[in-house]
Amino acid sequence: MKKSKPLKIIIPAVFRPLLKEKIRYKLYYGGRAGGKSYAFADSLLLKGRMEKLFIVCVREIQESIKESVYKLLVDRIETLGLTDYKVSQRKIENKLTGTRIIFKGLRDQDAGKIKSLEGADICWIEEGQYITKKSWDILDPTIRKENSEIWISMNREEETDPLWTILGAHPDDRTLVRKVNYTDNPFCPEEIKFQAQKCLETRPQEYPHIWLGEPKSQADSTLIAAGLVLKAFEGKMLSSSSPLIIGADIARFGSDKTALFFRKGRYGVKFELLDSMDTVEVANHLTALIKTCHPYRIFLDLGNTGAGVYDILQDRGYGEIVRGVNFGAKAFLPDRYVNKRAEMWDAVREWLSSEELPVQLPKEDGLLEDLTCVRKKYDSCGRLQLESKEEVRKRLGRSPDLGDSLALTFAEPVRDFGEPKLYSKDKIYIEDLFKEKKKAVSW
Ligand SMILES: Nc1ncnc2c1ncn2[C@@H]1O[C@H](COP(=O)(O)OP(=O)(O)OP(=O)(O)O)[C@@H](O)[C@H]1O
Ligand SMILES: [Mg+2]
Repeated sequence: MKKSKPLKIIIPAVFRPLLKEKIRYKLYYGGRAGGKSYAFADSLLLKGRMEKLFIVCVREIQESIKESVYKLLVDRIETLGLTDYKVSQRKIENKLTGTRIIFKGLRDQDAGKIKSLEGADICWIEEGQYITKKSWDILDPTIRKENSEIWISMNREEETDPLWTILGAHPDDRTLVRKVNYTDNPFCPEEIKFQAQKCLETRPQEYPHIWLGEPKSQADSTLIAAGLVLKAFEGKMLSSSSPLIIGADIARFGSDKTALFFRKGRYGVKFELLDSMDTVEVANHLTALIKTCHPYRIFLDLGNTGAGVYDILQDRGYGEIVRGVNFGAKAFLPDRYVNKRAEMWDAVREWLSSEELPVQLPKEDGLLEDLTCVRKKYDSCGRLQLESKEEVRKRLGRSPDLGDSLALTFAEPVRDFGEPKLYSKDKIYIEDLFKEKKKAVSW
């Protein structure tokens, strides 16, 4: 007898809540090729084999079934060899569990027609960015069965996409919001990586929208433009004789990583990420760094568990080197910045913006996204204010720790007589660059 192949369905970790968590709304958004459609399709097919479910796949406009996720589901059934699914012209059924999957367009459906969706266990909204408020207001109360779930996959279009405004912008505890980009997709085709890279190089202003899932209109409200970061990634510095400054963004209890950024003047040397370390372990790590790398300053975020680390280092006699920073504290220029955090981040922007002096950042995964995701606004006195860490965390699904650790290196001005050592292949001569521009004090 022919032995059947063992079933191999891999759902990337970021999508596991689709299967594991019981929560009403699950909203996944991001740029192209994040793996959303495949992961949703595979998860639904898996769930539908375990128990009898009524699954409805909707989108705003569906003039024919060809425009729906029907084809993707059929392809996945075939590729994965799920012979227990029976595919017919308008629906898909599981022969063993009785699961039924149907496809509907919401536009032009009145509440009466949509009533047929009432018994749905799961409703998958594909291309959620195009769902109108009118469609949502009819759909949401229709999906009313006990424990029913609404799954949404979307690539944000505008800041005001109705589903984003209603669910994503301020998620409550019945809503899970996750951002996924092609960099999170373990199956991302090489062609896509190539296209994304090309976009980065030739149309960097469009990259955050197409590939990082930012809405179009956001380009103007982000503090740091992608182009600045990309320019700083280009390799041009070998080392620097400027004093070493370390910015330390300490992890919250039990989650996130502690991020350290090492900067020497205009040379961003490297990041270090410390995973699952408690207060004492972080303090020990910093103590070892003080002894071996001789930083001139360590600027340490006093929020979260940072205050504990700071106290230990003070106690060990490193008060001169280690300075505590409170993101919410008053800025040096309080008439320009709402708080210290806005001032430090703006210093990063200025540092990256110089036309005259070169600047170098290490090519760290996630750094481009961290630096370009933070949005600016102005308060009623015209002072710069940033989106809070909490808001960014909700939007990104993680906090911009790399960006914050870099910003921390700008907490106070540091005397800097150093010079970076440049690669000479681009014919940049250090003497020319620094002849008249050397400053005694810089950030
Ligand atoms: N489980 C998987 N097995 C094989 N290939 C996969 C899998 N998941 C994703 N891919 C590959 O990654 C590509 C992008 O995935 P998918 O289309 O699901 O992303 P998406 O986030 O829906 O993108 P878009 O926004 O462009 O619709 C697919 O075209 C496919 O090549
Ligand atoms: Mg898709």
